[in-house]
Order: sequence, then structure tokens, then C-alpha cells
Amino acid sequence: MESIGTLVVLGATGDLTSRLLLPGLGRLLTEQPGRRIRLIGADLAPRDSQQWADTVRAAFDSVEATGPAVDHVLAHAEYLVTDAASAEDLQQVLASATGIPALYFALPPAVTAQAIAALHEVALPEGTVLALEKPFGVDRASAAALNRQLASLVEEDQVFRVDHFLGKSTVLNILGLRFANYLFEPLLNRDHVAKVEIVYDEQLGLENRAGYYDRAGAMVDMIQSHLLQVMALVTMDAPQSVHATDLRAAKTEALRAVRPFGGDPVAASRRARYTAGTIEDRRLPSYVEEHGVDPERDTETLAEVTLESSTWRWSGVPFTLRSGKALGAARRDIAITFREVPHLPTGLDGHLEPTVLRLCLKPDAMVLELNVNGPGDPFVLDRGRLTADFGAGRLNPYGEVLHGLLDRDPSLSLSGAAAEHAWGVVDQIRAAWQSGQVPLEEYPAGSPGPQNWQS
Ligand code: BG6
Repeated sequence: MESIGTLVVLGATGDLTSRLLLPGLGRLLTEQPGRRIRLIGADLAPRDSQQWADTVRAAFDSVEATGPAVDHVLAHAEYLVTDAASAEDLQQVLASATGIPALYFALPPAVTAQAIAALHEVALPEGTVLALEKPFGVDRASAAALNRQLASLVEEDQVFRVDHFLGKSTVLNILGLRFANYLFEPLLNRDHVAKVEIVYDEQLGLENRAGYYDRAGAMVDMIQSHLLQVMALVTMDAPQSVHATDLRAAKTEALRAVRPFGGDPVAASRRARYTAGTIEDRRLPSYVEEHGVDPERDTETLAEVTLESSTWRWSGVPFTLRSGKALGAARRDIAITFREVPHLPTGLDGHLEPTVLRLCLKPDAMVLELNVNGPGDPFVLDRGRLTADFGAGRLNPYGEVLHGLLDRDPSLSLSGAAAEHAWGVVDQIRAAWQSGQVPLEEYPAGSPGPQNWQS
């Protein structure tokens, strides 16, 4: 299939573009020196093509991107002052594109929705690909409306709903680990697994992102956008192939089965917000005192939800998804805890803990935590760890996302139905929160979370 000729970044002057998209592109082009694309930056801010080329160069330099594909992009970088909500402007941008264009909406959801509406008055070149950043809509209804709008513009395989977590090395390794080994797959079900935790705890605070984050909160920013997709990869049945159609269908089916544990969104969720505190010598103000935050919104900076997959395979197994900002220690992993052994032979002593398969997301590795006969007394149990390094991957996560996009392979993007199912789960939890049944708790920045969450 012919690959993309021009990548148009709408929202070119935004933080996401310089921090993530362009470095991802730099890595990809370094890896693939033969690739030739044109890069058009489009945004409202008055810039010229030289300034855009300087921005691109700085981002490429940050990942030491070099080679002929990089040089080609820099030599042909073009910037067009563009109102993404204007059909006329979008038409003009597309007129400047050569080959098949990809439009990358690095924009807030409301502006993306306006831009998609405006595209209906534009003559789209054959094969045009549309890439949409998270969050895809702001709830299930808006995601469904956006899906309908997109469906009347292009085919489903021309829509890329971006989730950079799907480009992370460990997340991609879930496929190989599960389906290319006999060891784990027969055990990944309710008969053998006691619980699963998918955790992305960060030390980072708000980082001047109030304009976006204060409306999203941890539940949408991380659980809706990323962690539910990871859960789908852990719970899905083996796809026939890892090509887009099969993989996306298997994940979508898995997400369709997800619901709050015990069907009770109140009992199954907790939320909290950080107050002032210190993280490794860095003093953070209370979240509500951060510039641009509206305290009335009650935005959570830490969200936890326990879910289940209502299937024969997983029914009754709690999946706890948690993510928070400004925590004392970073923890980013998928921990699959197996059931306890039915009987420990008399005479084997020591502290018995369940076996845990831990898939670490930073650095990318796998650790199998086992009970073994330790180095001392052979009858006293010890904890043994088998570690395998997955490596950082050939590209960074945005490089993987762009690789799929430029080759028009949507394997790593979400299907429209998957996005709606993910919102369906999150909408239930947020409705319980809005009804005031789940208190917004507090934790000092730099702590492990609210005191009563520590068990
Ligand atoms: C982004 C969220 O999608 O993912 C951020 O908006 C979060 O809030 C980030 O910090 C985490 O992913 P990574 O790959 O940067 O660790």
C-alpha cells in the first residue's frame, strides 16, 4: 500500500507536537533513512516556515535524529497559518500536500470536533488518513457522535485514534509473551489468577497543563485513554493474527466485557487530589493552587478503579487500574498475581507469597517473582526473581504510532467501538463521582497517596 506523502500537524505550535510527536518522527526517520515525507505545520499562531523548521530541528536534535530522511523533512518543512475549524483553511492546507496526506489533530477535543465537522465541506484527497489525539471525545455520547462524523468522511481503517501506550515496548511485548509461549497463556484465567493491577503512578505534577488536565483528571487522562487499552491486551482472547483487523477486533471484544467490579461503580472506585508537598527536594504547591486550576471542578489527580471482565475466562478476577500524579514514588507496571498454592508441604518454611508476573513499563522489562528454596537453609523459602529485559524498542512510543500512521497500518490505533466501550466504563464511574457518592480525598504531594489507601 502506498505510504503517506505529507504529514500535516494541526496544532503545530502546541506542547504535544514539540515534546512528543516531532521527537517520535525524528527517531522514525533516523531508523528509516529511505522514507520521504513532507511535513506541514498548521496552527493559528503567526509563524513562518523557517521558524517551523527551527522547531522541528530542535525536536529532532533532542533525540539525535540524523540522516537523509531527516534532512529531507527539514529542507521541505512548511508552515501555514491555519484555523483548524475553517473549511477554507483546511482546503488550503490539503492543496499544499503532495501524495497521500495524513492530517494529525494534535488539538483539544472540542477543536478536533470542530475541525472534523469542517472537513465535511472539504474535498479530501483519495486515501487521506485522519489521526486523532486522546481524549477521543469527552464521554461516550460525544465519542459516538465523533465516530459517526468520521464514518461519513472516510473508511474506518483511515481513522487513527492514537494511544501512545500501545507503542510502548512492554505493552507490545504482551502479545509475544502471551501468545508465543506455552507457559503463561494456559494460566491467564480465573482458575489461576487472583488479581491483576495495572498501575501508572507518577512523580510528575501538573507541569503547566491545567488547561487540559483540569478538565480531564486522572480518570480520563490515564485510565480512559491508556490503562483500559492495556487491560484489553491482557484480557483479550488470542487473535488470529496481529494484523489490524484481527487485533483490533479482539481488543474491542475484550473492552466490551469490562465493567465495574461487582457492578457497583461506587464501591469499585476511589479518587483523590494532591495538596502541597515535596518530591525529591522539589516543592509542589497544592493542586488547587496551580495556575489555571478551578477548584470548583473537583478534579482528581489520583484515580483508582476496580474492574472485571465479564467472560468465562476472567469472571470474578479483580483488575485494579490506578494512576496518579505527584506521588512519592513512581510505579508503572502490570502485576498479575497468581493464586496461592493449595498446600505447602510440611517442612517447607518461610514467608510464602503468591507468584507475581510483573510487566514493568519503565524501564521495559518483565519480572517473575517466585518462591524458591533460597541460598541458606534449603528448607526455608526465599523470594526469587527471574528478570527479562524487553529493551526500549526500536522506536519510542510516538515513533511506533507514526510508523503505523505513515504506512497506513492502524494495528496500534483504537477502533471506534473500542473508544466508545472505554468511555462507557468511565462514564459509569464519573456519574457515581458526580452524584457525590465517592468522596474526593486528599494526599500530600510526595506521599504514597491518601493514608487510608495504604493497606
Ligand atoms: C500522557 C498523559 O498521555 O501520558 C500524561 O497525558 C502522562 O499526563 C503520560 O504523564 C504518561 O506517559 P509517558 O509515556 O509520558 O510516561
